[in-house]
Amino acid sequence: MTEMTLVESVAYDDGDIDTNPSTSTHLNELVARRYSRRSLMGGMSAMTTAVFGGALLTGCSDDDDGDVVTVSDGTTVQTQGGRVVTLSATASSNATTTSFKQVAGPTVAAVTSGNSITFVAPNVAQSTALVFEFSASNASGTSSERTTVNVLPATLDFTAVAKNKNDLVTVPANYTVTVLYRLGDPLASGVAAYANNGTDTNFAQRAGDHHDGMSYFGLAATGTAPDATSNTRGVLVMNHENITESYLHANGPTGLTGTGVRPEAEAIKEIEAHGVSVVEVTRAGNTGAWSYVQASTLNRRITPNTPMQFNGPARGNAALRTRVSSDGTRSNGTINNCANGQMPWQTYLTCEENWAGYFTRAAGDEAARTAANAAKQNVSLRRYGIGQGRTGNYRWTTVTPADASSTTFSRWNASVLANAAADGTQDFRNEPFTFGWVVEIDPFNPQSTPRKRTALGRMNHEGCWPGRTIAGVKPAFYMGDDAQNEYIYKFVSNVAWAAADATAADRLAIGDKYLDAGTLYVAKFNDDGTGTWLPLVFGQNGLTASNTTYPFADQADVLINTRLAADVLGATPMDRPEWTAVNPVNGEMYCTLTNNSSRRPVASGSQRAVDASNPRAYVDPRTTGTSTTGNANGHVIRLRETGDTTEATTFTWDIYAFGAGSDLDPVNINLSSLDATNDFSSPDGLWFGLSTNASGQVAPLLWLQTDDGAFTDVTNNQMLVGMPGRVGDGGTRQVTSTVAGASATVTTRIGAAPGAKLKRFLVGPVGCEITGISSTPDGRSVFVNIQHPGEGGEVSNITSNWPASQAGTAAGVRPRSATIVITKNDGGVVGL
Ligand code: FEO
Ligand code: CA
Ligand code: CA
Ligand code: CA
Repeated sequence: MTEMTLVESVAYDDGDIDTNPSTSTHLNELVARRYSRRSLMGGMSAMTTAVFGGALLTGCSDDDDGDVVTVSDGTTVQTQGGRVVTLSATASSNATTTSFKQVAGPTVAAVTSGNSITFVAPNVAQSTALVFEFSASNASGTSSERTTVNVLPATLDFTAVAKNKNDLVTVPANYTVTVLYRLGDPLASGVAAYANNGTDTNFAQRAGDHHDGMSYFGLAATGTAPDATSNTRGVLVMNHENITESYLHANGPTGLTGTGVRPEAEAIKEIEAHGVSVVEVTRAGNTGAWSYVQASTLNRRITPNTPMQFNGPARGNAALRTRVSSDGTRSNGTINNCANGQMPWQTYLTCEENWAGYFTRAAGDEAARTAANAAKQNVSLRRYGIGQGRTGNYRWTTVTPADASSTTFSRWNASVLANAAADGTQDFRNEPFTFGWVVEIDPFNPQSTPRKRTALGRMNHEGCWPGRTIAGVKPAFYMGDDAQNEYIYKFVSNVAWAAADATAADRLAIGDKYLDAGTLYVAKFNDDGTGTWLPLVFGQNGLTASNTTYPFADQADVLINTRLAADVLGATPMDRPEWTAVNPVNGEMYCTLTNNSSRRPVASGSQRAVDASNPRAYVDPRTTGTSTTGNANGHVIRLRETGDTTEATTFTWDIYAFGAGSDLDPVNINLSSLDATNDFSSPDGLWFGLSTNASGQVAPLLWLQTDDGAFTDVTNNQMLVGMPGRVGDGGTRQVTSTVAGASATVTTRIGAAPGAKLKRFLVGPVGCEITGISSTPDGRSVFVNIQHPGEGGEVSNITSNWPASQAGTAAGVRPRSATIVITKNDGGVVGL
């Protein structure tokens, strides 16, 4: 026997539709078999293994229908980045050992099972050959065969989801949605399942409401420490921004209007349903179902009642003294947590957005403040939306607690109390200054005290996303202040990044290192496509005690009053800065500007005039309801730091995409030439695929989520995915805005039209916002939050039954905010 006859055949299964289409098996047939056999196989996990761990696989195709082909010995096959490839070989019966090895191309992490190997194709800039060798041996010798897998650059290879108003999460063909973690789900053993009828209590041990920003952290097998490579076990940390109070109580809330008084039990429930969840999640094997772990010792609810500490320059400042912290170093809790940040050292940032709305402030409180700093406090409170004569959103201050000494409700009253000390240590006049911060949480230490990072400034923090971390370069953290005509910020640490910090044991100490000392900057966008980061540093550029609007005392005063300081510097007022995201390949920063109903062709009162970076004001038509005026549909701006470094103080910018219905004026409104496959409105959530998988390599995926009221006559809120180019890939454009007879023309900077490189991937259920996204390191499981389905309804008029509706008919069931997991049926990278 010669060596060459030892190997009888090496058969490769892959997806090149050009190779042998006549032998193809349609994916739908495979899926049908898989599901029809499920009951015999005893579960999803076993089935998935049976299909995809074997010789069959989903292949690359150019027509989205997932053809599967078999290719023969030694043939060159073709796939594209992000696709699962399985190579199967057969050795003759007299072989005693077999093995695979990769002999050319970028190294892949292949899993060998018998005589087949499986791997996910890496992303590539151009067609790239991966060569594998299969060898079989016996006592007579060894024989080998090679095959070549040509990997093409990844594309958005799915059919765009159509706009719809169904009460379902809709994703493309060949994807699966699993509901993972819903409002009220118990987070400890012994906590009852959620009845979802308004009788449930103890939200400090249940999932909160209004799931929002979210990050996945890989968990080691020990169950206590991070493992940034784990794709099957992790902790999800997520914000619970707000509540839909109409569904939380048996018959809706009571005492919410007029002179009503809130029952204590209702207020406790509402307060505890806010905050943050830390919840362990696991996958049954590499391809099985995800579930959350009810009894995990890592599970934690952080609520508006959870003790926190201040760090950074404002720690101990007189403005932070309250009845619960006479030295201004501590406070209770966090609220209205919107977007987030995932730190390279495995901690989570939660950001306090519309916290001001919870506060009561008596009429006459301005005059009642008589301390030396009263005038400054009044200016500050007004600038942050806490004028006198207001009642908090949920009227918690009307509760008469059973325990008269409790401050759980009275703390939301920002009024000075008669005969209370002027320094604020006997009432809660200063409580509003304890909110508006970025808070760092260590998900792996449930006993740790979250730290409010005052160096990052105080505002309506939407999110806080790190730029690329490069050893020896000071890291930056990008932030939006979400209110009309507010600003975009970045914080640059005083110290350069050290790679070893990514795996340090004391994670909050690393947070101290990078987040407590540095320079906070605010963005100024120039009409010519350049921009400047203006430093918010006490003593510079008018941030002094002689400032006439607000005399700043020191750096802590600048940070506590970030907005006032940014006003002084002449930052550019934007159309509501929401999430920030950073392209992991080139470092460019994207920021959603969701919409702005106060943008006009010409400035008037609080209305701002269009400019190059906020160039549109128009009347957006609706088929039902009231039309929206201003920048009704929002846009996504992006910037490239000078020298591509996070330390830069100047940048260039353009606009990646303008939201618009595809039927709107292509000259002045639908500037990005959106069509039926990708038109959107009110971009909010924004996140790039991770560099650890194909979705974050070469041309990283940009996920874009909407929070809209202007387009909901056409479609429920949605999530798109794009493959953006880079700043400067388009050109300039003249835009004429016309509202009520006023008109103005500005020249903006616009990126290349996204075309087929932006597609609708998901449409949510009725009344929801899509917000919050993260993935496993391999990109094969993507977590998304569905916030407030059925918003606007009530117990007597339930307007959504999601997520119950996802599983079939669910009439009468109350809706619940929830986390879903999206997986591709062939196990590939989601979106590719
Ligand atoms: Fe909570 Fe600006 O969205
Ligand atoms: Ca948001
Ligand atoms: Ca929003
Ligand atoms: Ca919302």
